Formats: sequence, C-alpha cells, structure tokens
Amino acid sequence: MLKDKILVIGASGQIGVELTMALRKIYGNANVVASDLREENELLKGTGPYVSLDVMNKEMLHVQVIRQNITQIYLLAAILSATGEKNPNLAWNLNMQGLLNVLDIAREEQVQKVYWPSSIAVFGPTSPKKNCPQQTIIEPITVYGISKYAGEFWCNYYNRRFNVDVRSLRYPGLISYKSEPGGGTTDYAIDIFNCAVESNSYKCYLKEDTYLPMMYMPDAIRATIELMEAPVEKISVRTSYNISAISFSPAEIAASIKQYVTSFKIKYKPDYRQTIAESWPQSIDDSVAENDWHWKPEYDLQKLTVDMLKNIKKN
Ligand code: NAD
Ligand code: SER
Repeated sequence: MLKDKILVIGASGQIGVELTMALRKIYGNANVVASDLREENELLKGTGPYVSLDVMNKEMLHVQVIRQNITQIYLLAAILSATGEKNPNLAWNLNMQGLLNVLDIAREEQVQKVYWPSSIAVFGPTSPKKNCPQQTIIEPITVYGISKYAGEFWCNYYNRRFNVDVRSLRYPGLISYKSEPGGGTTDYAIDIFNCAVESNSYKCYLKEDTYLPMMYMPDAIRATIELMEAPVEKISVRTSYNISAISFSPAEIAASIKQYVTSFKIKYKPDYRQTIAESWPQSIDDSVAENDWHWKPEYDLQKLTVDMLKNIKKN
C-alpha cells in the first residue's frame, strides 16, 4: 500500500490553515503539502511543504499530484456566499471547474481519497427551517448554494461511476480565530469577537433574531478527519453529510460576549446578506452522520465564547 501523501488545495484560507496543521500532526509534516493561489499563511511557514498552485490550471495540478505521489486531496479553494453574489460567474467557474479538475485527476491517478466541503447554503427558502433533514427540498438562491448542490451531485457521480472515494460535509458557519474568514454570510460571528476585543462595540449586518447553524473550528476539523478516516462501508452518503453543532442569533452571541466584555454594545444594520441568511435553515438534523460515523460536537456557545475571547486577547 502507498504511504499517505496529502495535498491541501486552498491551504491559506480559514479552514485550510487549521486543517493543514491538524493533518500534519497525524500524517507527519513532510507528508502534507499545502497549496494555494495566494502566499503561504504565516502560521504554516516552516511547518511543511508549500506549493503555489491554481486549481483552475488542471495541467499544473496534475503534475503536482504525480510528482508528489499524492494519495489524498483536500479541496478547499472556493468563493463563499457573500463574495459569490458580487461575482456570480467567477464563483460558479471556480467552485465547479476546480472540483471537476480534482475529481478527474483523482480518477485518472487513482488517488485514494478526496475531501470536498459543501455547505448549509445548499438549502433554500423552501427547505425546513428547523432541524433541516439530510434529504429534503433543496432550492438554493445563491450562486454559492447552486454550485455546492451541483458539486454534491458531481461527487456522487464520480463515486458511483468511477469509484472515486470522495467524501463531503455540509459545514455550517465556521467560527475561528487563527485565520481570516473568506467572505461568507456567517462571518459576522467572527467579526463580532474581534470588534468586542478591539472596541467593545459591533455593527451587525444581520438582524438580531436571525438564527443560523454554526460550529467552532475544532469541531469542524475533527468532523472532517473523522469522516475521512471512517471505514468506507460506513459512508452511506456520497453527496454530502449534514453536520451540526449549535444555532444562535446575533442577539444571543452578543449576550454571550457581554458576560465577559460587560461594556460590549451591538447595533444592527442589515444589508444584502440578510436575504441570504434568511434563505438558510436555522438548525440542521445531523442524525445520519451520527449514525454512520458517530459524529458528535463538543463546543456549545458558552465554551466557544470563552475560547474565542481568550485567544483573540492573547493574539
Ligand atoms: P477561504 O476563502 O478562507 O479559503 C479559500 C482559499 O482558497 C483561499 O486561501 C484562497 O486563496 C484559495 N483559492 C482561491 N482560488 C484558488 C485557486 N484558483 N486555486 C487555489 N487556491 C485558491 O474559505 P474557507 O472558509 O477556508 O472555506 C473552505 C471550503 O469550505 C470552501 O469550499 C467553502 O465553501 C467551504 N465552507 C466553508 C464554511 C465556512 O464557514 N468557512 C462553511 C461552509 C463551507
Ligand atoms: N459560512 C459559509 C458562508 O456564509 C457557509 O457556507 O458562505
């Protein structure tokens, strides 16, 4: 059997930095190649190999996969929901063609496993708002959501038709402090912590009672690795698994922060992201992931608030 050699595409992004570091701990620094279109993230410098790579350049990607004897690919390069609405063509091209390039190369080179994240953005206004199930009405209204839903079916297709072992999670909004978020609708739940520490106040672009599914980054990284390490016979979903941890509104996260930053103040000035947020479910049913590979979150709002504030102050 080939030794594991992993390529992370989009490694300088919000998830990429932490996922690369976690994979390097498991597989060894030299066996996890970080790659991105932009420069190497400061936190990754000196911790393992880095290559500059554009996922849209299929030849260049193919050469890297062969040259580095890659056995697993984690594809994180994408344009997220809010940025996607500003440039729908760019978002569609990157999110679709990037995935198809990776799936084709994985098929040709018999890469053992591929990871590609989907999102709660696949759901739309006609999906159930509470405990949104794995299989339900799915009519996304953003270009990001459309690209993720189409991507899920490409993953399913490459698995069934060509036996590519591609696995996927529908991440909720991810909250973290190590690297900057990349332009999502849920980014307010990160900005609010930075502003609370810097200036004791925050102007929120969502209404105070907008509930969204969220997750702290350590849970998301663990979910990703647990999914990828699960025995193949446990994977019953080849589109993308629902996963969930917590749901809260801007008013609730503000109240949680106020327990520790007592002078914290929040104002609300909703913008175009309100329509996107309102189109998504407020909470997600992840019982299929729980049954298949025993997914269970660890962080609630209280635990996340304490950890975020502690680390942002430290940094
Ligand atoms: P991000 O924007 O922070 O990072 C994406 C990275 O991809 C960036 O470093 C960017 O430079 C890189 N990139 C862009 N175009 C590229 C190209 N052509 N070739 C190579 N690299 C390129 O995004 P993220 O938040 O880390 O998200 C990673 C994945 O997870 C995406 O597929 C996203 O849709 C999904 N996701 C994220 C969240 C979240 O809350 N962060 C939630 C649901 C799903
Ligand atoms: N956090 C992401 C976004 O808001 C959800 O996929 O775009």
